[in-house]
Amino acid sequence: MELPQTPEQDFLLERQMNSSNVIKKMVAIDDIVYQQTPVITIDRQVLLDNRVVAAIEDDPRADVFRILRTKVLQRMRANNATVLAITSPTKGVGKSFVAVNLAASIAMDSNYSVLLVDMDLRRPSVHQYFGLTPKFGLSDYCLDNKPVAELLINPGIKSLVILPAGKPTKRSSELLSSAKMLAFSEELKCRYPNRIVIIDLPPLLLTDDAMAFMANVDACILVAAEGQTNKEELERSLQLIDKKKYLGTILNKSTENKDDDYY
Ligand SMILES: Nc1ncnc2c1ncn2[C@@H]1O[C@H](COP(=O)(O)OP(=O)(O)O)[C@@H](O)[C@H]1O
Ligand SMILES: [Mg+2]
Repeated sequence: MELPQTPEQDFLLERQMNSSNVIKKMVAIDDIVYQQTPVITIDRQVLLDNRVVAAIEDDPRADVFRILRTKVLQRMRANNATVLAITSPTKGVGKSFVAVNLAASIAMDSNYSVLLVDMDLRRPSVHQYFGLTPKFGLSDYCLDNKPVAELLINPGIKSLVILPAGKPTKRSSELLSSAKMLAFSEELKCRYPNRIVIIDLPPLLLTDDAMAFMANVDACILVAAEGQTNKEELERSLQLIDKKKYLGTILNKSTENKDDDYY
């Protein structure tokens, strides 16, 4: 198996931006699609402030995501899956928090490169976790034919590329079930065998947005939050997920381990 090239190995152009903590490079990572991908190195403090703990190698809280990564990759390999959806019953339970940290964790220490796609088109937030303000994203691919290659960002973590959602849209369900998205998902599956695609899907119970795309993913993780998600929401959500694709539920914001702020 050929490992993906790193941005450092295949560096095309570098330029310092005005902002003190942002460096922009033009790189190719493992495919022609990535040749235009800018690398924006995110300041450690931004990652800490936004709880992207998995991206900080010496942060003890990254261990939780390393354990999760191992379990998820094992189950995905067993199912021959490469496209993983992260969803939740309702909003605000930490679905994006899990998607971002799991993506960073897999990208930082494995044989895979990771594409993290923000498909929560009504409430996009993946870019916020990295302190980014991208002008365009997935909704611009759907609505205005912007090439995907021009929408990708590498947040300075080896082998991780983000596809932001773009400007929020209420036409989410329509876009996620469009022929363009079907073509996009086929591309995700077939073209890059060594890549894990992590999709931050919308919540399951508020709209039909998540279900509009669910047929296109290979695997699915449900995120619930202690004190926020009730049993009925959990049961209704589990009924919506194809059993063959279901990898498990993550209980986020657990108070069981009081020594730890997060888990
Ligand atoms: N385990 C956690 N501990 C502390 N704060 C968390 C945790 N998980 C998520 N949060 C915070 O909760 C808020 C909602 O999380 P988010 O990932 O945006 O939810 P969702 O994507 O499900 O709407 C964010 O401010 C996030 O930083
Ligand atoms: Mg979210």
